[in-house]
Amino acid sequence: MVNFRELFKVVAKGIARSKVSIAGAVMTTLIFPFLLVAALLDMQGVIKNPYFGFIIYMVMGPLFVFGIILLISGILFFKSSEDIGAYTFEYLKEQFTMPGRYSRVRRLILLITVIVNVTLIVVVIFSYSAFRYTESTAFCGQFCHSVMEPEYITYQNSPHSRVSCVECHIGEGAKWFTRSKMSGLRQMVAAALDTYSRPIQTPIGALRPVRKTCEECHRPEKFHGDKLYLKNKFRPDEKNSHVQTAMLMKVGSGGYQGQRAYGIHWHVSPDNTISYRYADSGRQDIFEVKLVRANGQESIYRRKGSIDHLNQQGGGGGGERVMDCMDCHNRPTHIYLSPDEALDQKLLSNEIPPELPFIKRQALEAITRQYESTEKAKNGIAMQLMNWYRVNYPAIATGNETLLAKAIRGTQRAYMENVFPSMNITWGTYRNFIGHKDQSGCFRCHSGSMRTAAGETMTTECDSCHILLAENRSAQDVLRICSE
Ligand code: HEC
Ligand code: HEC
Ligand code: HEC
Ligand code: HEC
Ligand code: HEC
Repeated sequence: MVNFRELFKVVAKGIARSKVSIAGAVMTTLIFPFLLVAALLDMQGVIKNPYFGFIIYMVMGPLFVFGIILLISGILFFKSSEDIGAYTFEYLKEQFTMPGRYSRVRRLILLITVIVNVTLIVVVIFSYSAFRYTESTAFCGQFCHSVMEPEYITYQNSPHSRVSCVECHIGEGAKWFTRSKMSGLRQMVAAALDTYSRPIQTPIGALRPVRKTCEECHRPEKFHGDKLYLKNKFRPDEKNSHVQTAMLMKVGSGGYQGQRAYGIHWHVSPDNTISYRYADSGRQDIFEVKLVRANGQESIYRRKGSIDHLNQQGGGGGGERVMDCMDCHNRPTHIYLSPDEALDQKLLSNEIPPELPFIKRQALEAITRQYESTEKAKNGIAMQLMNWYRVNYPAIATGNETLLAKAIRGTQRAYMENVFPSMNITWGTYRNFIGHKDQSGCFRCHSGSMRTAAGETMTTECDSCHILLAENRSAQDVLRICSE
């Protein structure tokens, strides 16, 4: 029979005798109710503030566990000297061999077992929640607020805003798990000590998404057929003329059920292995491409007149890599637009009213200036637009203030969603490898200068990738055919 009153008295005495235990007891008793309520609220999803999770799991949880450790070690090790003497082997033996006696030692052992078990349960529950918390988008994207702000904002505006950061950035398996947690730890230290690079370097090493993670959701081998791509643009003229570029994109397929791979996703077919060698860490300068087909036939394309940068310079940020999704889709979610595209998007959604004369041209001028901070940019953009319309269209500046105010808000947003002065991210800091802006992207390989020894070049015909149906004009005719 366990006499709980006795037990409690012994505990209380044990605790009271040791200052360490008292400290531990006070700590746990004070934290426990808060922790319980907070964790329940968090599990129910009542409070969404990212700092809340941090306080519960990274501050209160560990303090609570520390309190319990103090409590137990106080009882065991820090008792007054007379008691320490009591814990000799002989004493223990004597106590245990006395049958039917409910000795002090047994009570203590029972008590400690109870405390240890309760602690273990609490620790397991909290470690699990804490682990889930470190995997959450709130922790990755919002906690390190200023550091991750650009990634988080671009992510939220992207088609992947419902995919959590870890789904892309952490591969499956224990190796990735430890790698990512170690890398996370390093990042937290860097954030705390303010030693991280601005902007954050890309490609990122330990957290680079792997092909398998994309393929959890996307199956390029199942893609088929061409796809209509439509880009809406606004000209920098008085009427902000709305024009369109329509293309039939040869998305193709990675090949399935006996069907051959073709088109753009031909690269990711299991039949073709493409690897490439590059000279710079940004993988902009590709100088050699190797293609191995299913039958083992090998083609090596080299840039005309290129030297072997890797052997020449002993690396220098270069390397070799097997091509996968990220060599084209390096911006599936952190999508930074060009100033033109950012404004076109706002004009299309009417966040910037297209009826305002010359707004495209003036907004473009305002957002492409250099600003020291987001705050200064907001003010600068507002001042410039206000002044320009006051001088050139006084009727709008005074008579139609809401229209101008709306245009200013939309223009500021176009800037704030893509430029982050605090992280040194300006227009074009991160390149997108989809397409061929500035001879980058596809044209890193698909240019006339890549040849095999036999003189074969890589595909450069426009039509092998897309068929331009309309370029910078109204595409109504094309769209009418497509909808019929
Ligand atoms: C759809 C997949 C996906 C999701 C979801 C995602 N990322 Fe990324 N992220 C990428 C890819 C791809 C890159 C570029 C990798 C490269 O080139 O090495 C990247 C790059 C980064 C970089 C390096 C800087 C840069 O822009 O290249 C950071 C930091 C980052 N991600 C943080 C996050 C955070 C924080 C979240 C969640 C808010 C997140 N990512 C969600 C795919 C994703
Ligand atoms: C958890 C599921 C999930 C994962 C993982 C994922 N995606 Fe997606 N992806 C989506 C969803 C959902 C959409 C939006 C589909 C839509 O809007 O029609 C999407 C859209 C896309 C699009 C089309 C974007 C557009 O503008 O239409 C591309 C390209 C893409 N994903 C590439 C990737 C790449 C590359 C990766 C790996 C780094 C990846 N995705 C990982 C779910 C995922
Ligand atoms: C050679 C470059 C390249 C590679 C490699 C590549 N893609 Fe694509 N992908 C494209 C292009 C180009 C498009 C169409 C244009 C666009 O989406 O902007 C596209 C379109 C897509 C889309 C949207 C399809 C649609 O119908 O809207 C998804 C999803 C996608 N790719 C996923 C993947 C995944 C997953 C991988 C890796 C297994 C991959 N891609 C590998 C270039 C590539
Ligand atoms: C290796 C494949 C490839 C080749 C070759 C190629 N393109 Fe493209 N092109 C693309 C892809 C991919 C995109 C854009 C996809 C996106 O933005 O999502 C694109 C986009 C474009 C756009 C739209 C740009 C915009 O944003 O308005 C134009 C115009 C264009 N290409 C013209 C050409 C012309 C002209 C040629 C021939 C000289 C050519 N391309 C050759 C792959 C190719
Ligand atoms: C790392 C180099 C590399 C990059 C980057 C690259 N490709 Fe390719 N691509 C190849 C090689 C190698 C071939 C096979 C030789 C050839 O047909 O030119 C190929 C072939 C193709 C083909 C012909 C496929 C077929 O059916 O035979 C298309 C279409 C294509 N690429 C489109 C693109 C597009 C679009 C992009 C950019 C989004 C791109 N490629 C980026 C290396 C690359």
